[in-house]
Amino acid sequence: MYRSRISGLGHFVPENIVTNDELSKLMDTNDEWIQERTGIKERRWIKKGSGETSATMGAKAAKIAIEKAGIDKDEIDFIIFATLSPDMYFPGCGVQIQDMLDLPTIGALDVRNQCSGFVYALSVADQFIKTGMYKNILVIGSEFHSGALDISDRGRGVSVIFGDGAGAAILTRSNDDKRGILSTHLHSEGKHAKELAVEAPSIAHWVPEILSNPDDLSYYPYMNGTFVFKNAVVRFSEVIMEGLIANGLTPEDINILVPHQANLRISQFVQKKFKLRDDQVYNNIQKYGNTTAASIVIALTEAHEEGKVKEGDLVVLAAFGSGFTWGSAIIRW
Ligand code: UT7
Repeated sequence: MYRSRISGLGHFVPENIVTNDELSKLMDTNDEWIQERTGIKERRWIKKGSGETSATMGAKAAKIAIEKAGIDKDEIDFIIFATLSPDMYFPGCGVQIQDMLDLPTIGALDVRNQCSGFVYALSVADQFIKTGMYKNILVIGSEFHSGALDISDRGRGVSVIFGDGAGAAILTRSNDDKRGILSTHLHSEGKHAKELAVEAPSIAHWVPEILSNPDDLSYYPYMNGTFVFKNAVVRFSEVIMEGLIANGLTPEDINILVPHQANLRISQFVQKKFKLRDDQVYNNIQKYGNTTAASIVIALTEAHEEGKVKEGDLVVLAAFGSGFTWGSAIIRW
């Protein structure tokens, strides 16, 4: 069996910065509430009419990742695209990447696991590489949240949290059995599907039905925030521990934890639980908000660029979100 390693990383965020103060002009919220509850100071939102989408941002992040990996784009064997905000109901964004990057007619798969999307996508890519089926896989996480948020007092509990952006990683086959992705661990608990969801339009609840009822707001995201928070802190801790135990490791072995950027308070809870120092947990939610499937790969890219992910480090990725789904990846860099 082969091992897979991350050979290139890239990210792209829209230029348009939206501060908490700016949001307070659009809805009944304020900088103090947002920072105290979430740690977020600002986020990036695509400017209307700019033409930017999940696919275009993903393509930009992917180009950087390919360049950093030092491979030719035609060496990519497979595309995996994680998003909850695809450009189209169908087909998924993966095929758009094949076209936008002018790649050979390779396979393209979309992953719909929301905040856990990148860890799920990474895990799928890892399996394809381990078995020898593919050599280089492009994994993208990208979200265009701002186009579909309820930017009013009614939606303030959700809208202030989410941001737009994309990240990409190239997974490459390696013969080094000591380094690379050591293991991934994936979970779901569908009985909580509606605690954090966008329910429509869906085949079960299609457009004419929504239009016939002006009070029907099921096309906006709904989140039972407190319930999600309580589950998140438990599942993050469990799945990190599961990954460490599977590899005969302990929390003391972690060099850097890159958690899904759901809420700074969740990251801080996990940090405390595992007795990690500030420099051992990478957070950038302060400037990007929660970018769902893109958050881990954007954070990993920045951590790597800042020299916080070094060769030989034990890097732990962990995510939790809508589904509920959660997962971790244990990587020896
Ligand atoms: O990435 C996927 C996973 N997502 C998460 O893990 C998110 C988990 N949940 C959270 O991060 C938190 O629950 C939130 C940040 C979403 C909310 O924080 P909270 O401490 O759970 O607040 P809450 O929903 O209980 O609301 C507290 C109060 C309410 O007012 P009353 O009823 O106490 O008068 C809300 O109406 O804060 C009010 N509120 C706001 N106030 C100002 C809700 N949203 C806002 C807002 N600005 N944006």
